[in-house]
Amino acid sequence: MKYNTAFPFFYESDIQDILSKTEDFLRGNGMLSMGKYVHEFEQKFSQTIGAQHSIAVTSCTAALETVLTSMGIGVADEVIVPAQTFIATGSSVVRVGARPVFCEVNENFILDFSDLKQRITKNTKAVMLVHFAGIIHDDVFEIKKYLNERDIYLIEDAAHAHGASINGVYAGNLGDAACFSFFSTKNTTTGEGGMITTNNPELAKKCDSIRHRGKDMDADCELFNCIGTNLRLTEFQALLGLTQLNRLNEFISHRNAVAKIYNEKLSVLFSNNLAEGPEIADGIVHAYWRYWIRLGANIDRENIQLKMAENAIKTDWAYSPLVHLQPVFKEMYGNEQGMLPLSEAYAQTHICLPIHFSITLEDAEFIADEFIKVVLAEVPR
Ligand SMILES: Cc1ncc(COP(=O)(O)O)c(C=O)c1O
Repeated sequence: MKYNTAFPFFYESDIQDILSKTEDFLRGNGMLSMGKYVHEFEQKFSQTIGAQHSIAVTSCTAALETVLTSMGIGVADEVIVPAQTFIATGSSVVRVGARPVFCEVNENFILDFSDLKQRITKNTKAVMLVHFAGIIHDDVFEIKKYLNERDIYLIEDAAHAHGASINGVYAGNLGDAACFSFFSTKNTTTGEGGMITTNNPELAKKCDSIRHRGKDMDADCELFNCIGTNLRLTEFQALLGLTQLNRLNEFISHRNAVAKIYNEKLSVLFSNNLAEGPEIADGIVHAYWRYWIRLGANIDRENIQLKMAENAIKTDWAYSPLVHLQPVFKEMYGNEQGMLPLSEAYAQTHICLPIHFSITLEDAEFIADEFIKVVLAEVPR
Protein backbone atom coordinates (compact mmCIF):
# COMPACT_ATOMS: atom_id res chain seq x y z
CA MET A 1 0.00 0.00 0.00
CA LYS A 2 1.51 3.35 -1.03
CA TYR A 3 -0.02 5.37 1.81
CA ASN A 4 0.42 3.27 4.93
CA THR A 5 -0.92 4.20 8.37
CA ALA A 6 2.48 4.08 10.06
CA PHE A 7 6.05 4.06 8.83
CA PRO A 8 9.43 4.55 10.52
CA PHE A 9 11.65 7.31 9.14
CA PHE A 10 15.44 7.81 9.35
CA TYR A 11 17.29 10.61 7.56
CA GLU A 12 20.17 9.46 5.35
CA SER A 13 22.65 11.35 7.57
CA ASP A 14 21.23 9.54 10.65
CA ILE A 15 21.57 6.18 8.89
CA GLN A 16 25.24 6.93 8.13
CA ASP A 17 25.84 7.98 11.73
CA ILE A 18 24.17 4.82 13.09
CA LEU A 19 26.14 2.61 10.69
CA SER A 20 29.53 4.10 11.51
CA LYS A 21 28.96 3.90 15.28
CA THR A 22 27.64 0.35 14.92
CA GLU A 23 30.67 -0.64 12.88
CA ASP A 24 32.82 0.73 15.67
CA PHE A 25 31.36 -1.51 18.34
CA LEU A 26 31.14 -4.50 15.97
CA ARG A 27 34.91 -4.13 15.62
CA GLY A 28 35.31 -4.37 19.36
CA ASN A 29 35.64 -0.66 20.12
CA GLY A 30 32.66 -0.52 22.41
CA MET A 31 29.96 -2.56 24.06
CA LEU A 32 27.02 -4.32 22.44
CA SER A 33 25.00 -3.83 25.58
CA MET A 34 25.38 -1.96 28.87
CA GLY A 35 27.58 0.62 27.15
CA LYS A 36 27.43 4.39 26.80
CA TYR A 37 24.60 4.73 24.27
CA VAL A 38 21.81 3.36 26.47
CA HIS A 39 22.90 5.76 29.17
CA GLU A 40 23.01 8.67 26.69
CA PHE A 41 19.59 7.72 25.35
CA GLU A 42 18.12 7.78 28.85
CA GLN A 43 19.70 11.13 29.63
CA LYS A 44 18.53 12.66 26.40
CA PHE A 45 15.03 11.30 26.88
CA SER A 46 14.87 12.88 30.35
CA GLN A 47 16.12 16.20 28.96
CA THR A 48 13.70 16.13 26.06
CA ILE A 49 10.56 15.62 28.12
CA GLY A 50 11.79 17.25 31.33
CA ALA A 51 11.59 14.13 33.52
CA GLN A 52 14.10 13.41 36.27
CA HIS A 53 14.58 9.71 35.57
CA SER A 54 14.40 7.60 32.42
CA ILE A 55 14.95 3.84 32.43
CA ALA A 56 15.24 2.13 29.05
CA VAL A 57 13.71 -1.34 28.72
CA THR A 58 12.93 -3.82 25.95
CA SER A 59 9.33 -2.70 25.27
CA CYS A 60 6.43 -0.68 26.62
CA THR A 61 4.85 -3.96 27.72
CA ALA A 62 7.96 -4.64 29.83
CA ALA A 63 7.86 -1.04 31.10
CA LEU A 64 4.26 -1.41 32.29
CA GLU A 65 5.01 -4.66 34.12
CA THR A 66 8.13 -3.19 35.68
CA VAL A 67 6.37 -0.06 36.91
CA LEU A 68 3.52 -2.08 38.44
CA THR A 69 6.04 -4.36 40.17
CA SER A 70 8.05 -1.37 41.42
CA MET A 71 4.87 -0.04 43.04
CA GLY A 72 4.37 -3.33 44.88
CA ILE A 73 1.13 -4.06 43.00
CA GLY A 74 0.14 -7.73 42.99
CA VAL A 75 -2.37 -10.31 44.16
CA ALA A 76 -5.72 -8.92 45.43
CA ASP A 77 -4.98 -5.47 44.00
CA GLU A 78 -7.01 -3.77 41.28
CA VAL A 79 -5.79 -1.49 38.52
CA ILE A 80 -8.18 0.58 36.43
CA VAL A 81 -7.66 0.23 32.69
CA PRO A 82 -9.55 2.18 29.97
CA ALA A 83 -11.46 0.17 27.36
CA GLN A 84 -9.78 1.82 24.37
CA THR A 85 -6.26 0.45 24.55
CA PHE A 86 -3.86 -2.25 23.44
CA ILE A 87 -3.78 -5.64 25.17
CA ALA A 88 -0.54 -4.78 27.04
CA THR A 89 -2.22 -2.17 29.25
CA GLY A 90 -4.51 -4.89 30.63
CA SER A 91 -2.24 -7.94 30.40
CA SER A 92 0.57 -6.24 32.33
CA VAL A 93 -1.79 -5.99 35.30
CA VAL A 94 -2.56 -9.72 35.14
CA ARG A 95 1.13 -10.57 34.71
CA VAL A 96 1.89 -9.03 38.12
CA GLY A 97 -0.98 -10.98 39.69
CA ALA A 98 -3.48 -8.12 40.00
CA ARG A 99 -6.89 -7.64 38.38
CA PRO A 100 -7.64 -5.12 35.63
CA VAL A 101 -10.89 -3.22 36.19
CA PHE A 102 -12.07 -1.98 32.81
CA CYS A 103 -13.40 1.55 32.58
CA GLU A 104 -15.31 3.62 30.02
CA VAL A 105 -13.56 6.12 27.77
CA ASN A 106 -15.02 9.47 26.82
CA GLU A 107 -15.68 10.86 23.33
CA ASN A 108 -11.96 11.52 22.89
CA PHE A 109 -11.25 7.80 23.54
CA ILE A 110 -9.49 8.62 26.80
CA LEU A 111 -10.41 7.52 30.29
CA ASP A 112 -13.79 8.83 31.45
CA PHE A 113 -13.18 10.63 34.74
CA SER A 114 -16.68 10.18 36.14
CA ASP A 115 -16.74 6.45 35.33
CA LEU A 116 -13.28 6.11 36.86
CA LYS A 117 -14.62 7.49 40.16
CA GLN A 118 -17.36 4.82 40.18
CA ARG A 119 -14.87 2.00 39.72
CA ILE A 120 -12.53 2.80 42.60
CA THR A 121 -12.71 0.31 45.48
CA LYS A 122 -10.59 -0.25 48.59
CA ASN A 123 -8.44 -2.56 46.45
CA THR A 124 -7.63 0.00 43.74
CA LYS A 125 -3.89 0.59 43.72
CA ALA A 126 -3.34 2.29 40.38
CA VAL A 127 -4.99 3.79 37.32
CA MET A 128 -3.60 3.47 33.81
CA LEU A 129 -4.10 6.65 31.82
CA VAL A 130 -3.62 5.94 28.12
CA HIS A 131 -2.98 9.07 26.04
CA PHE A 132 -4.81 7.41 23.18
CA ALA A 133 -3.61 8.49 19.72
CA GLY A 134 -1.40 11.10 21.41
CA ILE A 135 -4.14 13.10 23.17
CA ILE A 136 -3.62 14.13 26.79
CA HIS A 137 -6.67 14.34 29.06
CA ASP A 138 -7.49 17.98 29.76
CA ASP A 139 -8.48 16.90 33.31
CA VAL A 140 -5.16 15.15 33.91
CA PHE A 141 -4.07 17.42 36.78
CA GLU A 142 -7.46 17.03 38.47
CA ILE A 143 -7.33 13.25 38.00
CA LYS A 144 -3.86 13.15 39.54
CA LYS A 145 -5.00 15.20 42.53
CA TYR A 146 -8.08 13.01 43.00
CA LEU A 147 -5.96 9.84 42.98
CA ASN A 148 -3.24 11.35 45.20
CA GLU A 149 -5.81 12.09 47.86
CA ARG A 150 -6.73 8.39 47.83
CA ASP A 151 -3.17 7.01 47.71
CA ILE A 152 -3.72 5.56 44.27
CA TYR A 153 -0.91 5.63 41.74
CA LEU A 154 -1.38 7.19 38.32
CA ILE A 155 0.53 5.41 35.53
CA GLU A 156 0.69 7.00 32.11
CA ASP A 157 0.60 4.53 29.26
CA ALA A 158 2.35 6.97 26.95
CA ALA A 159 2.98 4.47 24.14
CA HIS A 160 1.36 6.92 21.67
CA ALA A 161 2.42 10.15 23.28
CA HIS A 162 6.06 10.93 22.58
CA GLY A 163 6.12 14.70 22.27
CA ALA A 164 2.55 15.32 23.52
CA SER A 165 2.18 18.01 26.16
CA ILE A 166 -0.31 20.01 28.21
CA ASN A 167 0.42 23.58 29.27
CA GLY A 168 4.09 22.94 28.48
CA VAL A 169 4.29 19.75 30.59
CA TYR A 170 5.24 16.72 28.52
CA ALA A 171 3.62 13.30 28.70
CA GLY A 172 5.87 11.29 30.96
CA ASN A 173 5.57 13.82 33.83
CA LEU A 174 1.85 13.68 34.51
CA GLY A 175 1.56 10.64 36.75
CA ASP A 176 3.77 8.72 39.19
CA ALA A 177 5.46 6.91 36.32
CA ALA A 178 5.04 6.66 32.56
CA CYS A 179 5.72 4.00 29.94
CA PHE A 180 6.68 4.73 26.32
CA SER A 181 6.92 2.38 23.34
CA PHE A 182 9.54 2.49 20.59
CA PHE A 183 7.90 -0.22 18.48
CA SER A 184 8.34 0.34 14.73
CA THR A 185 5.02 2.14 14.22
CA LYS A 186 5.50 4.67 17.01
CA ASN A 187 6.35 8.40 16.77
CA THR A 188 10.00 7.56 17.45
CA THR A 189 11.33 4.04 17.17
CA THR A 190 14.09 1.63 18.07
CA GLY A 191 12.38 -1.33 16.38
CA GLU A 192 11.40 -2.76 19.74
CA GLY A 193 11.99 -0.87 22.96
CA GLY A 194 10.44 1.06 25.80
CA MET A 195 11.18 3.80 28.32
CA ILE A 196 10.00 4.30 31.86
CA THR A 197 10.02 7.88 33.13
CA THR A 198 9.35 9.07 36.65
CA ASN A 199 10.07 11.98 38.95
CA ASN A 200 10.05 9.65 41.96
CA PRO A 201 13.65 8.58 42.78
CA GLU A 202 12.53 5.51 44.75
CA LEU A 203 10.43 4.14 41.91
CA ALA A 204 13.27 4.90 39.48
CA LYS A 205 15.71 2.92 41.59
CA LYS A 206 13.35 -0.04 41.84
CA CYS A 207 12.66 -0.05 38.09
CA ASP A 208 16.39 0.13 37.38
CA SER A 209 16.97 -2.84 39.68
CA ILE A 210 14.10 -4.92 38.24
CA ARG A 211 15.40 -4.57 34.68
CA HIS A 212 18.83 -5.75 35.93
CA ARG A 213 17.38 -8.99 37.41
CA GLY A 214 16.87 -7.42 40.82
CA LYS A 215 20.45 -6.24 41.30
CA ASP A 216 21.27 -3.95 44.19
CA MET A 217 22.23 -0.91 42.10
CA ASP A 218 24.29 0.60 44.95
CA ALA A 219 26.54 -2.48 45.22
CA ASP A 220 29.58 -2.72 42.98
CA CYS A 221 29.34 -6.51 42.92
CA GLU A 222 26.54 -8.89 41.98
CA LEU A 223 24.18 -8.70 44.93
CA PHE A 224 20.50 -9.18 44.20
CA ASN A 225 17.95 -7.95 46.67
CA CYS A 226 14.71 -8.37 44.76
CA ILE A 227 13.33 -10.62 42.03
CA GLY A 228 13.76 -8.96 38.68
CA THR A 229 14.39 -9.98 35.12
CA ASN A 230 16.56 -8.95 32.18
CA LEU A 231 14.91 -6.12 30.26
CA ARG A 232 17.98 -4.28 29.02
CA LEU A 233 18.02 -2.46 25.70
CA THR A 234 21.01 -3.06 23.38
CA GLU A 235 23.46 -0.36 22.32
CA PHE A 236 22.24 -0.61 18.73
CA GLN A 237 18.66 0.10 19.76
CA ALA A 238 19.83 3.04 21.85
CA LEU A 239 21.68 4.45 18.83
CA LEU A 240 18.46 4.33 16.82
CA GLY A 241 16.64 5.99 19.70
CA LEU A 242 19.20 8.79 20.01
CA THR A 243 18.89 9.80 16.37
CA GLN A 244 15.10 9.55 16.52
CA LEU A 245 14.95 11.76 19.62
CA ASN A 246 16.87 14.48 17.76
CA ARG A 247 13.99 14.49 15.28
CA LEU A 248 11.12 14.35 17.76
CA ASN A 249 10.06 18.01 17.45
CA GLU A 250 10.30 17.84 13.69
CA PHE A 251 8.26 14.61 13.58
CA ILE A 252 5.52 16.00 15.83
CA SER A 253 5.34 19.32 13.92
CA HIS A 254 5.00 17.39 10.69
CA ARG A 255 2.24 15.18 12.10
CA ASN A 256 0.43 18.34 13.23
CA ALA A 257 0.82 19.90 9.77
CA VAL A 258 -0.69 16.80 8.14
CA ALA A 259 -3.52 16.80 10.70
CA LYS A 260 -4.18 20.49 10.00
CA ILE A 261 -4.72 19.71 6.33
CA TYR A 262 -7.02 16.82 7.19
CA ASN A 263 -8.98 18.98 9.64
CA GLU A 264 -9.36 21.82 7.16
CA LYS A 265 -10.37 19.60 4.27
CA LEU A 266 -12.67 17.36 6.30
CA SER A 267 -14.50 20.35 7.76
CA VAL A 268 -16.99 19.80 4.94
CA LEU A 269 -17.86 16.47 6.56
CA PHE A 270 -17.80 17.88 10.09
CA SER A 271 -20.15 20.76 9.25
CA ASN A 272 -22.63 18.38 7.61
CA ASN A 273 -22.65 16.01 10.60
CA LEU A 274 -21.11 13.25 8.51
CA ALA A 275 -18.07 12.97 10.78
CA GLU A 276 -16.56 14.33 13.97
CA GLY A 277 -13.04 14.49 15.38
CA PRO A 278 -11.68 14.75 18.91
CA GLU A 279 -11.98 18.00 20.88
CA ILE A 280 -8.49 19.22 21.71
CA ALA A 281 -8.46 21.72 24.58
CA ASP A 282 -6.25 24.82 24.46
CA GLY A 283 -2.76 24.20 25.82
CA ILE A 284 -2.61 20.62 24.57
CA VAL A 285 -0.10 19.54 21.93
CA HIS A 286 -1.52 16.44 20.25
CA ALA A 287 1.26 14.02 19.24
CA TYR A 288 -0.92 12.60 16.45
CA TRP A 289 0.31 9.04 16.61
CA ARG A 290 -3.06 8.46 15.00
CA TYR A 291 -5.41 10.76 13.13
CA TRP A 292 -8.89 9.43 13.82
CA ILE A 293 -12.38 10.66 13.15
CA ARG A 294 -15.76 9.16 13.90
CA LEU A 295 -18.12 8.66 10.97
CA GLY A 296 -21.82 9.47 11.11
CA ALA A 297 -24.27 6.67 11.77
CA ASN A 298 -25.09 4.45 8.77
CA ILE A 299 -21.80 5.15 6.98
CA ASP A 300 -20.18 1.79 6.36
CA ARG A 301 -16.51 2.06 7.36
CA GLU A 302 -15.59 -1.37 5.96
CA ASN A 303 -16.75 -0.22 2.55
CA ILE A 304 -14.83 3.05 2.92
CA GLN A 305 -11.73 1.05 3.82
CA LEU A 306 -12.11 -1.04 0.64
CA LYS A 307 -12.64 2.03 -1.56
CA MET A 308 -9.67 3.85 -0.05
CA ALA A 309 -7.51 0.77 -0.61
CA GLU A 310 -8.34 0.98 -4.33
CA ASN A 311 -6.37 4.27 -4.23
CA ALA A 312 -3.52 2.59 -2.32
CA ILE A 313 -4.55 4.39 0.88
CA LYS A 314 -4.58 2.29 4.02
CA THR A 315 -7.18 3.11 6.66
CA ASP A 316 -7.85 1.20 9.86
CA TRP A 317 -9.23 1.40 13.39
CA ALA A 318 -7.59 0.71 16.74
CA TYR A 319 -8.27 -1.13 18.93
CA SER A 320 -10.66 -3.75 17.73
CA PRO A 321 -11.91 -5.49 19.76
CA LEU A 322 -11.59 -3.13 22.70
CA VAL A 323 -9.34 -4.52 25.41
CA HIS A 324 -12.10 -5.79 27.75
CA LEU A 325 -13.57 -7.79 24.83
CA GLN A 326 -10.33 -9.54 23.90
CA PRO A 327 -10.93 -13.32 24.07
CA VAL A 328 -8.54 -13.75 26.98
CA PHE A 329 -10.43 -11.25 29.16
CA LYS A 330 -13.83 -12.56 28.09
CA GLU A 331 -12.73 -15.98 29.23
CA MET A 332 -10.99 -14.87 32.44
CA TYR A 333 -13.63 -12.48 33.71
CA GLY A 334 -16.81 -13.32 31.76
CA ASN A 335 -16.70 -9.91 30.04
CA GLU A 336 -19.32 -9.44 27.35
CA GLN A 337 -20.36 -6.97 24.70
CA GLY A 338 -22.48 -4.26 26.32
CA MET A 339 -20.35 -4.13 29.48
CA LEU A 340 -18.94 -0.70 28.58
CA PRO A 341 -21.66 0.61 26.25
CA LEU A 342 -20.30 4.12 25.70
CA SER A 343 -16.80 2.99 24.74
CA GLU A 344 -18.20 0.24 22.53
CA ALA A 345 -20.47 2.68 20.71
CA TYR A 346 -17.71 5.28 20.23
CA ALA A 347 -15.32 2.65 18.88
CA GLN A 348 -17.71 1.25 16.30
CA THR A 349 -17.58 4.14 13.86
CA HIS A 350 -14.07 5.56 13.98
CA ILE A 351 -11.51 5.35 11.22
CA CYS A 352 -7.86 6.44 10.99
CA LEU A 353 -6.10 8.11 8.06
CA PRO A 354 -2.36 7.70 7.36
CA ILE A 355 -0.19 10.06 9.38
CA HIS A 356 3.58 9.88 9.72
CA PHE A 357 6.72 11.65 8.55
CA SER A 358 6.69 10.14 5.05
CA ILE A 359 3.18 11.41 4.32
CA THR A 360 3.90 14.71 2.58
CA LEU A 361 1.56 17.70 2.76
CA GLU A 362 0.62 17.00 -0.89
CA ASP A 363 -0.13 13.38 0.04
CA ALA A 364 -2.33 14.65 2.87
CA GLU A 365 -4.34 16.80 0.45
CA PHE A 366 -4.76 13.87 -1.93
CA ILE A 367 -5.76 11.46 0.86
CA ALA A 368 -8.27 13.93 2.32
CA ASP A 369 -9.81 14.64 -1.09
CA GLU A 370 -10.15 10.92 -1.85
CA PHE A 371 -11.62 10.29 1.59
CA ILE A 372 -14.25 12.99 1.17
CA LYS A 373 -15.26 11.57 -2.23
CA VAL A 374 -15.52 8.05 -0.84
CA VAL A 375 -17.50 9.12 2.23
CA LEU A 376 -19.92 11.26 0.24
CA ALA A 377 -20.54 8.32 -2.11
CA GLU A 378 -21.34 6.15 0.92
CA VAL A 379 -23.85 8.49 2.55
CA PRO A 380 -27.27 6.79 2.46
CA ARG A 381 -29.74 8.86 0.42
C1 LIG B 1 -1.38 1.85 24.37
C2 LIG B 1 -0.27 0.86 24.23
N1 LIG B 1 0.31 0.37 25.34
C3 LIG B 1 1.31 -0.51 25.28
C4 LIG B 1 1.79 -0.96 24.08
C5 LIG B 1 2.88 -1.97 24.04
O1 LIG B 1 4.02 -1.47 23.43
P1 LIG B 1 5.24 -2.44 23.02
O2 LIG B 1 4.90 -2.97 21.67
O3 LIG B 1 6.42 -1.52 22.99
O4 LIG B 1 5.34 -3.48 24.05
C6 LIG B 1 1.24 -0.47 22.90
C7 LIG B 1 1.74 -0.94 21.60
O5 LIG B 1 1.28 -0.60 20.54
C8 LIG B 1 0.17 0.45 22.97
O6 LIG B 1 -0.41 0.94 21.86
